[in-house]
Amino acid sequence: MPALVVVGAQWGDEGKGKIVHFLGRSADWVVRYQGGDNAGHTVVFDEQKYALHLIPSGILQTGVKNVIGDGVVVNPRAFVDEIKMLEKRRIKVRGRLFLSLAAHVILPYHVYLDTLREEGGRGIGTTKKGIGPCYEDKVARIGIRVADYLDAASLRVLVRQNLKVRAAELAKVKPLDEIEAEVFDGYEARRRFLARYAADTGLILDAARRKGARILLESAQGSMLDLDHGTYPFVTSSNPVAGGACVGAGVGPTTITGVMGVTKAYTTRVGLGPFPTEIEGAVARYLREVGKEYGVTTGRPRRIGWLDLPQLRAAIRMNGVTALTMTKLDTLSGVHPIKVCVGYKLGKKRMAQFPPARRAQLDVEPIYESFPGFSGDLMAARKFSDLPLGARRYALAVEKALGVPILIVSVGQSREQTIVRDTRRIWG
Ligand code: GDP
Ligand code: IMO
Ligand code: MG
Repeated sequence: MPALVVVGAQWGDEGKGKIVHFLGRSADWVVRYQGGDNAGHTVVFDEQKYALHLIPSGILQTGVKNVIGDGVVVNPRAFVDEIKMLEKRRIKVRGRLFLSLAAHVILPYHVYLDTLREEGGRGIGTTKKGIGPCYEDKVARIGIRVADYLDAASLRVLVRQNLKVRAAELAKVKPLDEIEAEVFDGYEARRRFLARYAADTGLILDAARRKGARILLESAQGSMLDLDHGTYPFVTSSNPVAGGACVGAGVGPTTITGVMGVTKAYTTRVGLGPFPTEIEGAVARYLREVGKEYGVTTGRPRRIGWLDLPQLRAAIRMNGVTALTMTKLDTLSGVHPIKVCVGYKLGKKRMAQFPPARRAQLDVEPIYESFPGFSGDLMAARKFSDLPLGARRYALAVEKALGVPILIVSVGQSREQTIVRDTRRIWG
């Protein structure tokens, strides 16, 4: 009964959606376990492009069932809109998607609070989707869960209590009774809609597992955005790392058989915070344009940098990564030379590890090794041996330096543009 966690090994947008959809062919269930509609997962197949924010990428794979787990924060409006978008595009969702009764809901005041903080001088460049404030309520034990949302009478009481707790901050936005009215505007239709999907997903997954189902656990964001292990405070408010999958899906650690870390062939980051290998100038602009490096959720241009081995080693360690996928190797074509960070300098000190302290994360200077670039169109490659020699050498050198096999190499957005080097080892 294999269960594979797919995690972002960098700062998000590594291509998790594409890889989960690709691996979904051999899965029965796909589970999102943390984050909310701050995520933007792109899936391209049959010349169609889908941008998913909340619903697992397995929804686009016929025959796969999907769960939004306990650890996810769900904006009911975003949930309804995404399902309607999928149905409009003839994707059947009913009967294939289960929403945890224990997931917390994002309400309009969470979005206001997120925006207030972002614009109040101490912003970190969030997606302004209300993610942080919703998780704050959860930890403060005043959060509202899907089960509460479905119960109109208790929802009214809980919302009033929470608005009082947040009154001082929210007074800057608009009167509390107006915010309360927004929560309940169109509520009954949304309540009925959500009720069709709500379920005890822990039980459902356990039953599936006992029957031998193959489960994929889909992370949102990336390891370096992890609340505990990332570049705090420039992080998201949940745990994208593989350990978060147990908490957020309600499965025990002994269930997990493998952890697939997804990394780009270079690095990107959206939002503020440390990024040791960030570059500006012609190469950055080239990679941003060729790689279409703009946020799926906010449209912001992504910051660009070289691959960072100490950063990836940290991600491998904190997730227990058993195999890697390298995406966007095609995008690096035409870049000469290609640099890879092999360590850092901090003043006179040399460091081999990603530093835990905020100041050091901002101040380290990367030490680079250069690789000759490669050219040509990689997008038609279907076997590793189809790749130009320079591209193979680059991937193999990274694999050797990290000590974890790169089992999948991705050379384009679509499902076909995926090279699997060894199928047998993927699920652990
Ligand atoms: P996610 O958040 O990790 O799912 O990644 P995003 O969807 O936000 O960003 C990754 C982008 O890269 C998407 O537009 C993908 O379609 C695209 N992509 C994924 N793998 C590849 C690849 O190997 N080559 C190219 N050119 N694009 C890719
Ligand atoms: P996917 O799943 C990249 C970033 C935001 C900000 C920080 C906190 O597509 O990889 P939040 O709104 O979560 O409170 O913002 O995290 N961020 C992402 N960056 N990809 C994502 O998701 C992200 N989700 C959040 O830019 O820096
Ligand atoms: Mg994304």
